Amino acid sequence: MKDARRSFLKQSSLGLLGALTIPSVFNELPAITLPKQDDKIDPQNEKYWTLVRQQFPLQKDWAYLNNGTMGPSPYPVIEAVHKGMMEGDVYGNYGGWENTHAKIAQFVGANEDEIALTHNVTDGINIACWGIPLKKGDEVILTTHEHVGNAFPWLNRQKLHGIKIKVFTPASTAAETLERIQALYTKKTKAIAVPHIPCTIGQILPVKEICAWAKEKGIFSLIDGAHGPGMLLLDLHQMGCDAYASCCHKWMLGPKGTGFLYIRKDFQETLQTYFVGGGSDNGKWNMATDPIKSGAYANNAHRYYGGTQGLGLYKGVDAAIAFIDNIGMENIYNRINYLGKYTQDNLMALGDKIEMLTPTEQNSRCAINGFRIKGFDFSKFYAKCAEQKIRIRMVAENEINCVRISTHIYNNTNEIERFIEIVKKEI
Ligand SMILES: Cc1ncc(COP(=O)(O)O)c(C=O)c1O
Repeated sequence: MKDARRSFLKQSSLGLLGALTIPSVFNELPAITLPKQDDKIDPQNEKYWTLVRQQFPLQKDWAYLNNGTMGPSPYPVIEAVHKGMMEGDVYGNYGGWENTHAKIAQFVGANEDEIALTHNVTDGINIACWGIPLKKGDEVILTTHEHVGNAFPWLNRQKLHGIKIKVFTPASTAAETLERIQALYTKKTKAIAVPHIPCTIGQILPVKEICAWAKEKGIFSLIDGAHGPGMLLLDLHQMGCDAYASCCHKWMLGPKGTGFLYIRKDFQETLQTYFVGGGSDNGKWNMATDPIKSGAYANNAHRYYGGTQGLGLYKGVDAAIAFIDNIGMENIYNRINYLGKYTQDNLMALGDKIEMLTPTEQNSRCAINGFRIKGFDFSKFYAKCAEQKIRIRMVAENEINCVRISTHIYNNTNEIERFIEIVKKEI
């Protein structure tokens, strides 16, 4: 008995970790560390941004211009996921992901108790959509530019509960967009659920003004924030939304299958919980009594999710935030903005055959550009790009039928020019 225990303790010690064979892909992680940036970095300092690119396992000959779908993780994130898994798998450690609430909160301008961990944007939108008290005939405002992840939950409630969805098309200026929203308001309007940045043509909606208007009218504001964190400088308290659903696997460059939902503290008593379990409680649950009746929910956003999470994944999220902080979110914003404008300007310089759908207004444009080549089938163009090792996205949804380019800090102007050359051949 004693021997068995000794052998178990020996196996759970660090000694075993040393004896493990580390998979070869892990050995291949390059040991380049970025210098800590305390200063402003010039968005056109290609020497520095090339160093940043070397932090990513992206293939050198491929131009990855589709960050809007998925943000590749840099090596420190991949390494943190591996280490986080080892913590559980070597020592049998449980938990640890709870620390990520505070890190995400700080990153997006919220409080720790306002963050629920999720696995993607869709999870967060569903939690918010289901939790809102709505009855038959209540109206909810959406756009005609929704991703299926923000459209389907509401369409589902329309089918199941008889709510009514009203839509507007975002305009080319923030002011006109607001007017279109206000024109949809009736006494039955109960919520507005719009993207911060639609996945289609990447225009930034005036969310702060939308949320202020919603508050004035007494309606809920729920933002699909798939493309906010890691692209824009965020302060959710300042934005004033009731809920903001996002993921860590796009612009934050975190592990795939990680996300979060921000729920404003004062809104937590209104937003009902439907998906509950370990962690959603306040520790006083007891099957011998009926504690739910007396309010046994966690006194924070943890009430909206329950159960075991992947420690490795959330260690990866922590590492992604540290990676961004090291470069500086403002520096990242400036670089992303520079590349986005570079793409837009160069496309528009090609003349009338390019129909640029993303607005040019500074506050409305970002790192995502959507455009059409007049008279050219966008799906054929997509195939041409793939042949040339350029990854982009087609926007076939909602009959928008355009091409989308989205660039992050690992991209450079050479890659954008390679892409422009392909466009030139087709016009
Ligand atoms: C605007 C928008 N909303 C929602 C989603 C869904 O995100 P997820 O796959 O993380 O649920 C996406 C994904 O591309 C998106 O672009």
